[in-house]
Amino acid sequence: MKKRIVAADLFCGIGGLTRGLSDAGIKVLKGYDFDADAKETYEKNNKGSSFFSIDVSNLKGKELLDGIDRKNNYFLLAGCAPCQPFSLINQSNKEEDERKDLLLQFGRLIKETSPDFIFMENVPGLMNGKGKHIFRKFISILDKQGYYYDYALLNTMNYEVPQRRRRLVLLGSKFSEVKIPSGSNKIITLKEVLNKYPPLDAGKKDKNILNHEARNLSKLNMQRLKLTPKNGGSRKNLPKELVLECHKKHKGHGDVYGRMSLEEVSPTLTCKCTCISNGRFGHPTQNRAISVREAAAIQTFEDDYEFFGNMGQNTKWVGNAVPVKFAKVFGNYFMQLKDNL
Ligand SMILES: C[S@@+](CC[C@H](N)C(=O)[O-])C[C@H]1O[C@@H](n2cnc3c(N)ncnc32)[C@H](O)[C@@H]1O
Repeated sequence: MKKRIVAADLFCGIGGLTRGLSDAGIKVLKGYDFDADAKETYEKNNKGSSFFSIDVSNLKGKELLDGIDRKNNYFLLAGCAPCQPFSLINQSNKEEDERKDLLLQFGRLIKETSPDFIFMENVPGLMNGKGKHIFRKFISILDKQGYYYDYALLNTMNYEVPQRRRRLVLLGSKFSEVKIPSGSNKIITLKEVLNKYPPLDAGKKDKNILNHEARNLSKLNMQRLKLTPKNGGSRKNLPKELVLECHKKHKGHGDVYGRMSLEEVSPTLTCKCTCISNGRFGHPTQNRAISVREAAAIQTFEDDYEFFGNMGQNTKWVGNAVPVKFAKVFGNYFMQLKDNL
């Protein structure tokens, strides 16, 4: 009988990565995250995958391997350590941001469990910005453990995800050379994603479509959005009297109050992506921000993936996720690699 790939997902959130790997045929048995509220969404949408609420720094290799049949399966250790410390948006200069060490916790678990395959995803700043030295340490662990690996900065829009999202991806194998799979020439625009959802008013929730719920807007923000041209625009289109005091002399954050465009992919979704004052998160044609469902669709979650908890949590989980289709590309790659062993 051919061996399967079983996996554990570190920092799993509500399971974007787990879902994508599972869609490729990998059996993700376990997800670990210290956000206990993510458990319900993770488990209800990923039958057969168990969520463990734990700080990964306290997770021991032995515990991770518990219940994993290494003899009859290949084992993939996957993980996306929190990326805020390396992200360009994060302006904090605290050298010793303890979250940075979480990638090295991933490295420790590689040493302790010696997985057959490794998947890592993070923001570009890990490779060429503030996180450089941490990434170097992570790579040296792979070298010392004798892994083959490849890594690259990729943009999810080149992998049929309707979103500009640059990410560092690393693939590793114990057995043979690995190569980051190339993308596709097909660009999926928002027209193909958003037009299928029924119109919605700000502050309302659709009764029939899971999580199709849009944030309420203050009177002033509604006025601003109404004056923002369809399929684009931003605070730069606003008359003086509607520009926020803090924006009057500030050149940055030019996208806020902007709308997405149906003719393009979306900008990078963040953990505030259902709020127009946090980026270009306005609906292309309706006077509201995108709904949680629309954000999830941009992150390539299927419409039956239900998010439990409140809207703030849903938005954070969706914005933080690895786009499902993007994750599936690498799942497929590992499946091929395994079949050629
Ligand atoms: C980028 S998100 C992961 C998204 C997830 N891979 C997905 O595709 O949906 C990072 C996650 O790390 C979790 N996290 C942060 N610090 C942690 C820690 N010390 N131990 C466990 N989880 C942690 C956060 O709660 C968050 O869900």
